[in-house]
Amino acid sequence: MILDKSTIVGVIGAGTMGTGIAQIASTYGHTVILYDISNEQLNQSKKALSKILERQVEKNRMTQNEIDGIMERIRFTSELSDCADCGFIIEAVVEDLSVKKELFQKLENLVSEDCILSSNTSSLSIASISSAFESPERFLGVHFFNPAPLMKLVEIIPGISTSNNVSQTVKELMDSWQKVTVLAKDTPGFIVNRVARPFYGEALRLYEEGIADAATIDWAMKELGGFKMGPFELMDLIGHDVNYKVTESVFKDFYYDPRFKPSFVQKRMVEAGRLGKKSGIGFYDYREGVKNPEPVTDRKLGDKIFNRILAMLINEAADAVFMNIATAKEVDLAMVYGVNYPKGLLKWADEIGLSFILDAMSALQIEYREDRYRPNPLLKKNVRNGDLFHG
Ligand SMILES: NC(=O)c1ccc[n+]([C@@H]2O[C@H](COP(=O)([O-])OP(=O)(O)OC[C@H]3O[C@@H](n4cnc5c(N)ncnc54)[C@H](O)[C@@H]3O)[C@@H](O)[C@H]2O)c1
Repeated sequence: MILDKSTIVGVIGAGTMGTGIAQIASTYGHTVILYDISNEQLNQSKKALSKILERQVEKNRMTQNEIDGIMERIRFTSELSDCADCGFIIEAVVEDLSVKKELFQKLENLVSEDCILSSNTSSLSIASISSAFESPERFLGVHFFNPAPLMKLVEIIPGISTSNNVSQTVKELMDSWQKVTVLAKDTPGFIVNRVARPFYGEALRLYEEGIADAATIDWAMKELGGFKMGPFELMDLIGHDVNYKVTESVFKDFYYDPRFKPSFVQKRMVEAGRLGKKSGIGFYDYREGVKNPEPVTDRKLGDKIFNRILAMLINEAADAVFMNIATAKEVDLAMVYGVNYPKGLLKWADEIGLSFILDAMSALQIEYREDRYRPNPLLKKNVRNGDLFHG
């Protein structure tokens, strides 16, 4: 089974992710069928893509010829039957299990037997979508990050029935699209959306406890931690409705493990319609003329904030390895290329010293007596044995 440039790629859903994925596939020479039920959405997608590509010409990153080729290779359609000749399909429609299942049932009847089908779902299990298939061995998760043409990471998630051959073939195709791939188990949040939870969750907890305000926590994570954005800026950008929903679904899917407990502060923001940048106000006020509070740039306080959030992130990264979701190398690659972390978390732990992280977790556990702060067994074992995550 080979997927190469001659493979016609079907992208289902012409929203944010579908448009970006279609751009990538076309850039690498594939004919792309971009399908959506909404003609209006297809027009918007075409316009948005043209604008993005024209900017590349203005910046001398691409020639007019190249971008004409990219646009010509994409066929925007509202007829599902146009996908009949696709050899590889990526679905990126609304995050709704019944919509996705219905689509895959139709697609499976339409395409040839050797077509590989995949979903870009962020929060549904691959197993649950695969139940729609007669041949689930040809279906898997292929999770891109937003914006798909810029973020290098793709998580490849085989389901319980996916054949090894199919995963390997898709990995090779993603390699040819210059993506960094990691193989993840079909568990809630896969790698990135699981390991990144404390970046938001622990920041919100510090805020709720009144240890620091949003600006100070953001300052600590950027100035002392080297993160490109602080957690509150990032949540305001993602939108609290979206971020809260992911947190809530990961929490439920982990059978209410307190490590993933959502925050009341964020829930209230959603209820009040303070969704972040898109609604003009979130933790920060984006309305014209409004001056936001300055951070308290106290180094001792900053270290306390940064060390606590970093320890929680590393503990979560260790858990992903401990539970065989992915290897230490893959977890680190995922966080660097999926969410732009300044360093792989487990490499960071090796550098800082694992006992420093374990001490930070143990101190939190003693202080709060909450299961949320339990140190991961692999972290404890490595400290006991003097081992590193990257041996
Ligand atoms: N936005 C992100 O940051 C992000 C990142 C990774 C993965 N994802 C996942 O990608 C998928 C798409 O997300 P998005 O942000 O691009 O959504 P979006 O709302 O921008 O786009 C969804 C598109 O699906 C179309 N659609 C809805 N029902 C359809 C149907 N039955 N047939 C065909 N098209 C249909 C809509 O018209 C819309 O254009 C979701 O599964 C989401 O979880 C999103």
